Amino acid sequence: MPTYDLYASDPGDPLWQVPATGSARFGWEYDDGRDRLLALYQKGKDKQWDGQKRIDWDLEVDPADPLGTPDESMSLYGTKYWAKMTDKDKGELRKHYASWQFSQFLHGEQGAMVCAARIVESVPDLDAKFYSATQVMDEARHAEIYGRFLHEKIGMLYPINDNLQALLGDTLRDSRWDMPYLGMQVLIEGLALAAFGMIRDTTDKPLPQQILAYVMQDEARHVAFGRMALRDYYRQLSDAELREREEFVIEGCYLMRDRLRGVEVLRNFGIPAAEAEEYSEQSEFLALFRRLLFSRIVPCVKDIGLWGTRLQQAYVDMGVFEMGDSNLDLLMAQDEEIAERLDAERFAVEERERVTEVAEAIEAGGSQ
Ligand SMILES: [Fe+2]
Ligand SMILES: [Fe+2]
Repeated sequence: MPTYDLYASDPGDPLWQVPATGSARFGWEYDDGRDRLLALYQKGKDKQWDGQKRIDWDLEVDPADPLGTPDESMSLYGTKYWAKMTDKDKGELRKHYASWQFSQFLHGEQGAMVCAARIVESVPDLDAKFYSATQVMDEARHAEIYGRFLHEKIGMLYPINDNLQALLGDTLRDSRWDMPYLGMQVLIEGLALAAFGMIRDTTDKPLPQQILAYVMQDEARHVAFGRMALRDYYRQLSDAELREREEFVIEGCYLMRDRLRGVEVLRNFGIPAAEAEEYSEQSEFLALFRRLLFSRIVPCVKDIGLWGTRLQQAYVDMGVFEMGDSNLDLLMAQDEEIAERLDAERFAVEERERVTEVAEAIEAGGSQ
């Protein structure tokens, strides 16, 4: 079904064009790659997988509760609107929230694909071009999977959030080759990864859990790539150049924290803008969610060397400063482990079913 028939609100012009600036770069030295980056490139090739095959698309999803979301975590919970809602209304609200959330994942994945392609084009080093080419393919597969989930299982999509789109535009319009890394690999992917992780670890629904666990297995490589490339490059920048990058990070973080919380959904339910903002602001669950959203960004920013006083102060204000000490390598290793464990569990179940079937067939054969 055409996506345009499934949008909960009008996404506007079917094509968004972002004028590009900056150079496409070629290098002629083919034998000078950094070992760690080439090892990551090899891993990127080895770990490709096909969502059509690896994910069990036969699993059913209830569109009225795709993620098993508890009442208390809904931003309207406890308000005068909630009191008036029937169970059917609540199911509808859950559907809209899940649709909004996964639609942002979907549009973000498309953005990641375009940014990774942009990095292939503009980054000076050939080893980074090679790696990023594998990421383009990863992001295409992710967009395909989220798109299929939304079309087939939820049956509703939301347009891209204005502020996410603005950040994506700023990231792509900039002519400095490191900006798609910083805007996409560090900020947007960092946020997405934290959001994926929170849903992966709390949902009791097997299909979204598979999708998120497997997508996160790939994202662990993407973050590693951004860290490696930027850590090397930022060592060579002047203080003034580093401060410019920090300003970009600060602005992006505030924007994503304050303006990416699904107010559009409440607006669609006829709740006036001011109230919708207020409920989203007051929701305890959302406040926790928004704090946890930074769990992947803060340690990453610190690690690549953007840790000036203004940035530190911003993170103190947001109450996320101490997240700078969390161990990214450990988190990434866990992401890979969780996906592998899920595979192992699923194959063990399939194996048990196969053995039972064979045993039954033998028994049936014997009793004839
Ligand atoms: Fe992705
Ligand atoms: Fe990614």
